[in-house]
Amino acid sequence: MLSVNNVRVHYGMAEALRGVNLQVAKGEVVALIGRNGAGKTTLLKAITGLVKLREGEIHFQGKRISGMPAHEIMRLGIGHVPQGRQVFGDQTVEDNLILGAYTKIKQQPRQVREWLEREYTRFPRLKERAKQMAGTLSGGEQQMLALSRALMSDPELLVLDEPSMGLSPLYVKLILDTVTQLRSEGKTILLVEQLAAAALAISDRAYVLSSGQVEMSGAADELLHDEKVVRTYLGA
Ligand SMILES: Nc1ncnc2c1ncn2[C@@H]1O[C@H](COP(=O)(O)OP(=O)(O)OP(=O)(O)O)[C@@H](O)[C@H]1O
Ligand SMILES: [Mg+2]
Repeated sequence: MLSVNNVRVHYGMAEALRGVNLQVAKGEVVALIGRNGAGKTTLLKAITGLVKLREGEIHFQGKRISGMPAHEIMRLGIGHVPQGRQVFGDQTVEDNLILGAYTKIKQQPRQVREWLEREYTRFPRLKERAKQMAGTLSGGEQQMLALSRALMSDPELLVLDEPSMGLSPLYVKLILDTVTQLRSEGKTILLVEQLAAAALAISDRAYVLSSGQVEMSGAADELLHDEKVVRTYLGA
């Protein structure tokens, strides 16, 4: 479904991605782990069209998406939950959700209404807060909103950038349980997560990124028991 080939990204003189290859097949949950600054967010931004590639190509469902503008990539079916959530703080919860489907609202208003109800069922808290400004939500509520906003257009591929960041244990569990739920519904997911053990536990495969390169990749349960991964990323 997604194929990243030899992708290089520079910020000025600094090389953030140095020839990254990564594949995600339909129905898979793939974890991307690595230290701070390894290039995880940059890779997700390369996929979603938010940074330019210096070299390489990205294909999604057979189409070359590298070089396309971000809104076009979103329209093709990639939903992005950015690091730090980035909800529209001065808009209501409901407006944030509807904005998540802005590419479909004109042609399919009834469908968007259905998706909205589906997200309210997923997170009843969002329904209670529908008319509240998103900026006044707690961190955990904002993460629910960011996740639901990305799900609003029914994306084929969901990319999540550290959904557990800064959340209390209860919310971490809620968010990761939601990812597990989405997995059982057959969603295809690329998950960046600092909580490497938790991420590997709910993924099929994983990539370890180090200094802008793929250091290791394989089945998630194998990496979970790999001595080097345990020592370096699982804090054991
Ligand atoms: N806009 C930018 N301008 C210049 N350098 C940047 C920019 N964004 C990221 N970088 C650099 O690129 C490298 C990779 O950053 P990136 O945010 O992709 O890492 P990350 O793996 O997501 O880290 P974290 O776990 O802290 O979120 C870092 O060295 C970072 O300082
Ligand atoms: Mg990051």
